Amino acid sequence: MGIETSCDETSVAIVADGKEIYSNIIASQIPTHRRYGGVVPEIASRKHVENIAMVVDQALQDAKISLKDLNGIAVTRGPGLVGALLVGVSTAKAMAYSLNVPLLGVHHLMGHIYATFLEHPGIKLPLLCLVVSGGHTSLIQLESYGRMRLLGQTRDDAAGEAFDKVARALGLPYPGGPEIEELARKGDPQAIDFPRAWLEKGSLDFSFSGLKSSVLNYLNRAGQKGLEINKADVAASFQQAIIDVLVTKAVTAAERIGTKQMAVAGGVAANSALKETIKRKAGKADLEVLIPSPIFCTDNGAMIACAGYYALLEGNKSPLELNAVPNLPMDFLR
Ligand code: KG4
Ligand code: ZN
Repeated sequence: MGIETSCDETSVAIVADGKEIYSNIIASQIPTHRRYGGVVPEIASRKHVENIAMVVDQALQDAKISLKDLNGIAVTRGPGLVGALLVGVSTAKAMAYSLNVPLLGVHHLMGHIYATFLEHPGIKLPLLCLVVSGGHTSLIQLESYGRMRLLGQTRDDAAGEAFDKVARALGLPYPGGPEIEELARKGDPQAIDFPRAWLEKGSLDFSFSGLKSSVLNYLNRAGQKGLEINKADVAASFQQAIIDVLVTKAVTAAERIGTKQMAVAGGVAANSALKETIKRKAGKADLEVLIPSPIFCTDNGAMIACAGYYALLEGNKSPLELNAVPNLPMDFLR
Protein backbone atom coordinates (compact mmCIF):
# COMPACT_ATOMS: atom_id res chain seq x y z
CA MET A 1 0.00 0.00 0.00
CA GLY A 2 1.21 3.50 -0.82
CA ILE A 3 -0.06 6.53 1.09
CA GLU A 4 0.47 10.11 -0.11
CA THR A 5 -0.71 13.14 1.89
CA SER A 6 2.10 15.67 1.44
CA CYS A 7 -0.03 18.46 -0.02
CA ASP A 8 -3.62 18.60 -1.22
CA GLU A 9 -4.37 15.08 -2.43
CA THR A 10 -5.28 12.26 -0.05
CA SER A 11 -4.20 9.27 -2.07
CA VAL A 12 -3.92 5.57 -1.31
CA ALA A 13 -2.95 2.88 -3.81
CA ILE A 14 -2.44 -0.86 -3.84
CA VAL A 15 0.38 -1.94 -6.14
CA ALA A 16 1.83 -5.44 -6.59
CA ASP A 17 5.52 -5.93 -7.43
CA GLY A 18 5.96 -2.21 -8.13
CA LYS A 19 3.99 -2.45 -11.37
CA GLU A 20 0.52 -4.00 -11.11
CA ILE A 21 -1.80 -1.23 -10.05
CA TYR A 22 -4.76 -2.80 -8.23
CA SER A 23 -6.18 0.57 -7.17
CA ASN A 24 -5.12 4.21 -6.96
CA ILE A 25 -7.65 6.39 -5.14
CA ILE A 26 -7.07 10.15 -5.18
CA ALA A 27 -9.30 12.39 -3.10
CA SER A 28 -8.39 15.84 -4.38
CA GLN A 29 -8.89 18.91 -2.21
CA ILE A 30 -8.53 21.30 -5.13
CA PRO A 31 -12.16 22.53 -5.02
CA THR A 32 -11.70 23.38 -1.31
CA HIS A 33 -8.46 25.34 -1.73
CA ARG A 34 -9.44 27.01 -4.98
CA ARG A 35 -11.41 29.80 -3.31
CA TYR A 36 -8.23 30.85 -1.43
CA GLY A 37 -6.07 30.84 -4.56
CA GLY A 38 -3.72 28.17 -3.20
CA VAL A 39 -3.34 25.42 -0.60
CA VAL A 40 -4.20 26.47 2.98
CA PRO A 41 -2.05 24.14 5.13
CA GLU A 42 -4.40 23.91 8.11
CA ILE A 43 -7.39 23.11 5.94
CA ALA A 44 -5.33 20.54 4.04
CA SER A 45 -4.44 18.72 7.29
CA ARG A 46 -8.07 18.62 8.42
CA LYS A 47 -9.30 17.36 5.06
CA HIS A 48 -6.68 14.58 5.13
CA VAL A 49 -7.92 13.56 8.60
CA GLU A 50 -11.51 13.51 7.34
CA ASN A 51 -10.66 11.51 4.21
CA ILE A 52 -7.85 9.11 5.00
CA ALA A 53 -9.84 6.19 6.49
CA MET A 54 -12.35 6.35 3.65
CA VAL A 55 -9.62 6.46 1.01
CA VAL A 56 -7.81 3.48 2.60
CA ASP A 57 -11.07 1.49 2.60
CA GLN A 58 -11.84 2.43 -0.99
CA ALA A 59 -8.33 1.46 -2.14
CA LEU A 60 -8.72 -2.00 -0.52
CA GLN A 61 -12.22 -2.43 -1.89
CA ASP A 62 -11.27 -1.48 -5.46
CA ALA A 63 -8.25 -3.77 -5.27
CA LYS A 64 -10.53 -6.56 -3.97
CA ILE A 65 -8.10 -7.41 -1.21
CA SER A 66 -8.20 -7.20 2.57
CA LEU A 67 -5.76 -5.78 5.12
CA LYS A 68 -4.17 -9.17 5.74
CA ASP A 69 -3.04 -9.33 2.08
CA LEU A 70 -0.75 -6.31 2.49
CA ASN A 71 3.02 -6.98 2.57
CA GLY A 72 4.13 -3.46 3.42
CA ILE A 73 2.97 0.11 3.94
CA ALA A 74 4.82 2.88 2.10
CA VAL A 75 4.19 6.51 2.94
CA THR A 76 5.49 9.93 1.94
CA ARG A 77 7.52 11.17 4.91
CA GLY A 78 8.55 14.51 3.36
CA PRO A 79 9.02 17.08 2.03
CA GLY A 80 5.59 18.67 2.24
CA LEU A 81 3.20 20.38 4.65
CA VAL A 82 3.94 19.01 8.10
CA GLY A 83 0.33 18.67 9.28
CA ALA A 84 -0.64 17.03 6.00
CA LEU A 85 2.32 14.62 6.06
CA LEU A 86 1.58 13.63 9.66
CA VAL A 87 -1.83 12.26 8.71
CA GLY A 88 -0.30 9.85 6.20
CA VAL A 89 2.64 8.95 8.42
CA SER A 90 0.47 8.26 11.49
CA THR A 91 -1.92 6.14 9.42
CA ALA A 92 0.95 4.16 7.89
CA LYS A 93 2.63 3.59 11.25
CA ALA A 94 -0.61 2.41 12.87
CA MET A 95 -1.28 0.02 10.00
CA ALA A 96 2.27 -1.32 9.79
CA TYR A 97 2.29 -1.91 13.55
CA SER A 98 -1.10 -3.57 13.78
CA LEU A 99 -0.56 -5.74 10.67
CA ASN A 100 3.06 -6.46 11.57
CA VAL A 101 4.32 -5.60 8.09
CA PRO A 102 7.26 -3.38 7.06
CA LEU A 103 6.89 0.40 7.13
CA LEU A 104 8.60 2.23 4.26
CA GLY A 105 9.11 6.00 4.52
CA VAL A 106 9.46 7.49 1.04
CA HIS A 107 10.96 10.83 -0.06
CA HIS A 108 8.28 12.55 -2.15
CA LEU A 109 10.71 13.28 -4.99
CA MET A 110 11.73 9.64 -5.07
CA GLY A 111 8.03 8.80 -5.45
CA HIS A 112 7.78 11.07 -8.50
CA ILE A 113 10.84 9.44 -10.05
CA TYR A 114 9.53 5.93 -9.37
CA ALA A 115 6.21 6.81 -11.04
CA THR A 116 8.10 6.04 -14.27
CA PHE A 117 8.72 2.44 -13.11
CA LEU A 118 4.97 1.78 -12.70
CA GLU A 119 4.51 1.69 -16.45
CA HIS A 120 8.09 0.80 -17.45
CA PRO A 121 9.20 -1.70 -14.80
CA GLY A 122 12.08 -2.98 -16.88
CA ILE A 123 13.99 0.29 -17.22
CA LYS A 124 17.71 -0.09 -16.83
CA LEU A 125 19.61 2.04 -14.34
CA PRO A 126 21.28 4.48 -14.26
CA LEU A 127 18.36 6.62 -15.37
CA LEU A 128 18.37 10.34 -16.07
CA CYS A 129 15.24 12.07 -14.70
CA LEU A 130 13.89 15.56 -15.10
CA VAL A 131 11.62 16.10 -12.08
CA VAL A 132 9.29 19.07 -12.49
CA SER A 133 6.64 19.66 -9.84
CA GLY A 134 5.24 22.42 -7.66
CA GLY A 135 8.15 22.09 -5.25
CA HIS A 136 11.05 20.77 -7.36
CA THR A 137 12.80 21.27 -10.66
CA SER A 138 15.80 18.98 -10.79
CA LEU A 139 17.89 16.92 -13.16
CA ILE A 140 18.80 13.73 -11.36
CA GLN A 141 20.74 10.62 -12.28
CA LEU A 142 19.22 7.62 -10.48
CA GLU A 143 21.95 5.01 -10.00
CA SER A 144 20.09 2.54 -7.76
CA TYR A 145 17.33 2.82 -5.17
CA GLY A 146 18.14 5.77 -2.93
CA ARG A 147 21.39 6.53 -4.77
CA MET A 148 21.02 9.68 -6.79
CA ARG A 149 23.35 12.19 -8.30
CA LEU A 150 22.16 15.75 -8.63
CA LEU A 151 23.07 17.27 -12.02
CA GLY A 152 21.14 20.51 -11.70
CA GLN A 153 18.25 22.12 -9.84
CA THR A 154 16.35 25.36 -9.60
CA ARG A 155 18.01 28.17 -7.70
CA ASP A 156 14.68 29.82 -6.88
CA ASP A 157 11.13 28.96 -7.99
CA ALA A 158 10.14 25.47 -9.13
CA ALA A 159 8.57 25.28 -12.60
CA GLY A 160 5.13 24.37 -11.19
CA GLU A 161 5.37 27.23 -8.71
CA ALA A 162 6.01 29.65 -11.60
CA PHE A 163 2.97 28.24 -13.45
CA ASP A 164 0.82 28.73 -10.33
CA LYS A 165 2.04 32.29 -9.66
CA VAL A 166 1.66 33.47 -13.25
CA ALA A 167 -1.80 31.86 -13.44
CA ARG A 168 -2.82 33.76 -10.34
CA ALA A 169 -1.65 37.05 -11.87
CA LEU A 170 -3.72 36.23 -14.95
CA GLY A 171 -6.79 35.70 -12.74
CA LEU A 172 -6.83 31.94 -13.31
CA PRO A 173 -7.77 29.48 -10.54
CA TYR A 174 -5.44 27.16 -8.59
CA PRO A 175 -3.66 24.99 -9.66
CA GLY A 176 -2.35 27.17 -12.44
CA GLY A 177 -0.50 24.63 -14.58
CA PRO A 178 -3.48 23.00 -16.29
CA GLU A 179 -5.21 26.41 -16.63
CA ILE A 180 -2.21 27.98 -18.36
CA GLU A 181 -1.87 24.94 -20.61
CA GLU A 182 -5.51 25.29 -21.67
CA LEU A 183 -5.35 29.05 -22.26
CA ALA A 184 -2.01 28.74 -24.09
CA ARG A 185 -3.67 26.60 -26.77
CA LYS A 186 -5.43 29.74 -28.02
CA GLY A 187 -2.32 31.95 -27.87
CA ASP A 188 0.85 32.58 -29.86
CA PRO A 189 3.97 31.26 -28.08
CA GLN A 190 6.15 33.73 -30.04
CA ALA A 191 3.98 36.79 -29.24
CA ILE A 192 6.03 38.05 -26.27
CA ASP A 193 9.75 37.47 -25.84
CA PHE A 194 9.94 36.58 -22.13
CA PRO A 195 13.47 35.92 -20.80
CA ARG A 196 15.07 32.47 -20.59
CA ALA A 197 17.55 32.09 -17.73
CA TRP A 198 20.35 29.95 -19.19
CA LEU A 199 22.71 30.86 -16.30
CA GLU A 200 26.47 30.28 -16.62
CA LYS A 201 27.75 28.49 -19.71
CA GLY A 202 27.24 24.74 -19.32
CA SER A 203 25.14 25.06 -16.14
CA LEU A 204 22.33 22.53 -15.71
CA ASP A 205 20.70 24.64 -12.99
CA PHE A 206 17.41 26.45 -13.50
CA SER A 207 15.94 29.79 -12.46
CA PHE A 208 12.35 30.80 -13.04
CA SER A 209 11.85 33.78 -10.72
CA GLY A 210 13.14 36.27 -13.35
CA LEU A 211 10.68 34.90 -15.90
CA LYS A 212 7.84 35.11 -13.38
CA SER A 213 8.75 38.76 -12.53
CA SER A 214 8.99 39.60 -16.20
CA VAL A 215 5.44 38.33 -16.79
CA LEU A 216 4.14 40.22 -13.75
CA ASN A 217 5.89 43.43 -14.93
CA TYR A 218 4.45 42.98 -18.41
CA LEU A 219 0.93 42.68 -16.96
CA ASN A 220 1.43 45.66 -14.60
CA ARG A 221 2.85 47.92 -17.32
CA ALA A 222 0.04 47.06 -19.72
CA GLY A 223 -2.48 47.65 -16.91
CA GLN A 224 -1.02 51.08 -16.08
CA LYS A 225 -1.12 52.14 -19.71
CA GLY A 226 -4.67 50.87 -20.02
CA LEU A 227 -3.65 48.51 -22.85
CA GLU A 228 -5.70 45.46 -23.58
CA ILE A 229 -3.88 42.26 -22.63
CA ASN A 230 -4.09 39.14 -24.75
CA LYS A 231 -4.01 36.64 -21.89
CA ALA A 232 -3.76 33.66 -24.23
CA ASP A 233 -0.58 35.13 -25.78
CA VAL A 234 0.88 35.78 -22.32
CA ALA A 235 0.10 32.20 -21.23
CA ALA A 236 1.52 30.68 -24.44
CA SER A 237 4.69 32.83 -24.41
CA PHE A 238 5.32 32.15 -20.70
CA GLN A 239 4.79 28.40 -21.15
CA GLN A 240 7.14 28.40 -24.15
CA ALA A 241 9.87 30.14 -22.15
CA ILE A 242 9.66 27.48 -19.40
CA ILE A 243 9.58 24.62 -21.90
CA ASP A 244 12.56 25.94 -23.90
CA VAL A 245 14.78 25.96 -20.83
CA LEU A 246 13.56 22.62 -19.38
CA VAL A 247 13.92 20.78 -22.68
CA THR A 248 17.26 22.26 -23.72
CA LYS A 249 18.88 21.55 -20.36
CA ALA A 250 17.42 18.02 -20.12
CA VAL A 251 18.67 17.10 -23.61
CA THR A 252 22.07 18.67 -22.85
CA ALA A 253 22.30 16.60 -19.65
CA ALA A 254 21.53 13.41 -21.59
CA GLU A 255 24.18 14.20 -24.19
CA ARG A 256 26.72 15.07 -21.52
CA ILE A 257 26.31 11.79 -19.65
CA GLY A 258 25.89 9.82 -22.86
CA THR A 259 22.52 8.19 -22.13
CA LYS A 260 19.88 7.27 -24.69
CA GLN A 261 16.95 7.25 -22.27
CA MET A 262 15.42 9.85 -20.00
CA ALA A 263 12.38 10.08 -17.70
CA VAL A 264 10.29 13.17 -17.03
CA ALA A 265 8.18 13.14 -13.85
CA GLY A 266 6.19 15.37 -11.48
CA GLY A 267 3.02 17.42 -11.91
CA VAL A 268 4.37 19.64 -14.70
CA ALA A 269 5.20 16.51 -16.75
CA ALA A 270 1.43 16.29 -17.37
CA ASN A 271 1.79 19.36 -19.64
CA SER A 272 1.12 18.31 -23.26
CA ALA A 273 3.21 21.08 -24.83
CA LEU A 274 6.20 20.07 -22.68
CA LYS A 275 5.69 16.40 -23.58
CA GLU A 276 5.48 17.10 -27.32
CA THR A 277 8.51 19.40 -27.34
CA ILE A 278 10.74 17.15 -25.28
CA LYS A 279 9.83 14.09 -27.36
CA ARG A 280 10.53 15.98 -30.60
CA LYS A 281 13.85 17.47 -29.49
CA ALA A 282 14.96 14.24 -27.83
CA GLY A 283 13.99 12.27 -30.93
CA LYS A 284 16.43 14.36 -32.97
CA ALA A 285 19.15 13.42 -30.47
CA ASP A 286 18.15 9.73 -30.71
CA LEU A 287 16.98 9.84 -27.10
CA GLU A 288 13.94 7.96 -25.76
CA VAL A 289 11.76 9.87 -23.31
CA LEU A 290 9.56 8.07 -20.76
CA ILE A 291 6.73 10.08 -19.21
CA PRO A 292 4.19 8.59 -16.80
CA SER A 293 0.47 8.86 -17.65
CA PRO A 294 -0.92 12.19 -16.31
CA ILE A 295 -2.58 10.50 -13.32
CA PHE A 296 0.86 9.25 -12.18
CA CYS A 297 2.53 12.64 -12.81
CA THR A 298 0.57 14.60 -10.21
CA ASP A 299 0.63 13.40 -6.60
CA ASN A 300 -0.66 9.84 -6.18
CA GLY A 301 -0.32 6.85 -3.88
CA ALA A 302 0.75 4.45 -6.65
CA MET A 303 4.12 6.17 -7.11
CA ILE A 304 4.74 5.94 -3.34
CA ALA A 305 3.79 2.24 -3.32
CA CYS A 306 6.17 1.69 -6.22
CA ALA A 307 9.08 3.49 -4.53
CA GLY A 308 8.24 1.55 -1.34
CA TYR A 309 8.43 -1.74 -3.22
CA TYR A 310 11.97 -0.98 -4.41
CA ALA A 311 12.91 0.21 -0.90
CA LEU A 312 11.68 -3.12 0.44
CA LEU A 313 13.76 -5.05 -2.13
CA GLU A 314 16.79 -3.13 -0.88
CA GLY A 315 15.89 -3.91 2.73
CA ASN A 316 15.40 -0.21 3.30
CA LYS A 317 12.68 -0.42 6.00
CA SER A 318 11.80 2.43 8.34
CA PRO A 319 11.49 2.20 12.13
CA LEU A 320 8.09 2.76 13.75
CA GLU A 321 9.54 6.00 15.17
CA LEU A 322 9.39 7.40 11.61
CA ASN A 323 8.43 11.06 11.64
CA ALA A 324 7.17 13.52 9.03
CA VAL A 325 9.92 15.90 7.88
CA PRO A 326 8.53 18.98 6.08
CA ASN A 327 11.86 20.00 4.54
CA LEU A 328 13.35 16.52 4.12
CA PRO A 329 16.56 16.93 2.12
CA MET A 330 17.51 14.61 -0.67
CA ASP A 331 20.66 12.66 0.06
CA PHE A 332 22.58 13.10 -3.18
CA LEU A 333 25.80 11.34 -4.11
CA ARG A 334 28.71 13.70 -4.69
O1 KG4 B 1 3.72 16.86 -8.43
P1 KG4 B 1 2.60 17.71 -8.03
O2 KG4 B 1 1.20 17.18 -8.11
O3 KG4 B 1 2.78 18.24 -6.58
C1 KG4 B 1 4.04 18.63 -6.08
O4 KG4 B 1 4.80 17.74 -5.67
O5 KG4 B 1 4.31 19.84 -6.14
O6 KG4 B 1 2.73 19.02 -8.94
C2 KG4 B 1 1.84 20.08 -8.83
C3 KG4 B 1 2.31 21.17 -9.76
C4 KG4 B 1 1.48 22.44 -9.64
O7 KG4 B 1 2.35 23.52 -9.58
C5 KG4 B 1 0.65 22.43 -10.92
O8 KG4 B 1 0.30 23.72 -11.37
C6 KG4 B 1 1.59 21.73 -11.87
O9 KG4 B 1 2.19 20.73 -11.12
N1 KG4 B 1 0.86 21.15 -13.01
C7 KG4 B 1 1.04 21.54 -14.29
C8 KG4 B 1 0.12 20.80 -15.07
N2 KG4 B 1 -0.57 19.96 -14.23
C9 KG4 B 1 -0.11 20.20 -12.97
N3 KG4 B 1 1.87 22.44 -14.83
C10 KG4 B 1 1.81 22.63 -16.16
N4 KG4 B 1 0.95 21.99 -16.97
C11 KG4 B 1 0.09 21.05 -16.47
N5 KG4 B 1 -0.77 20.41 -17.27
ZN1 ZN C 1 4.46 15.98 -5.95
